[in-house]
Amino acid sequence: MLTIESPQSLREQLYSWRRQSQSIAFVPTMGNLHQGHLRLVEVAKQQAAKVVVSIFVNPLQFAPGSDFEAYPRTLQQDVNQLQSLDVDLVFCPPVSAIYPENMNESTRVIVPGLSDILCGRFRPGHFAGVTTVVAKLFNLVQPDVAVFGEKDYQQLLIIRRMAEDLFYPVKVAGVETVREASGLAMSSRNQYLSDAERRTAAMLFSTLTNVAAQVK
Ligand code: PAF
Repeated sequence: MLTIESPQSLREQLYSWRRQSQSIAFVPTMGNLHQGHLRLVEVAKQQAAKVVVSIFVNPLQFAPGSDFEAYPRTLQQDVNQLQSLDVDLVFCPPVSAIYPENMNESTRVIVPGLSDILCGRFRPGHFAGVTTVVAKLFNLVQPDVAVFGEKDYQQLLIIRRMAEDLFYPVKVAGVETVREASGLAMSSRNQYLSDAERRTAAMLFSTLTNVAAQVK
């Protein structure tokens, strides 16, 4: 497995695979990988000859004063897991490679409307940060398929919309949420929850599932 930090080396490697007509599946992540991410990688492997995973904690999608600094970073452990899954390339750039100039004055990619409702109402700028970094990563990797979890369903729809609007020649695949035995969706941020909050969060899922069944 190749581990690459620089966009230039990434482009060179991808160029050589593309010249051999190898299709490329891409899984963007912020690292601290769990079973949910590993499932995305498995799906990616079914979709293309080569699988590229990015690990980049994107500062642009964190609100000032939120958990950017504290966000769990477990790079070596993540790389080992990806190696055991036979991933072809891990791209883990430093912030300066993705935002070489002042990040706050750099170009944004925004999907209006969809980014401003639901979760977006409470996290101003969050989805603009996501779409901006995903657009940059799509430009660097130029994947045939990109794989995202349905756990962040709004994010998945926003990225599909961005890809369609900007004519990215990529299929955006969604993968069903992987859950703990309690029903709680696996997420890197679950480690912020106390035992009581975990129980409440699991209850939300079972209640919603129940309500959906009754509505049907
Ligand atoms: O879902 C995530 O982990 C992030 O929002 C993503 C898509 C990797 C962009 O930073």
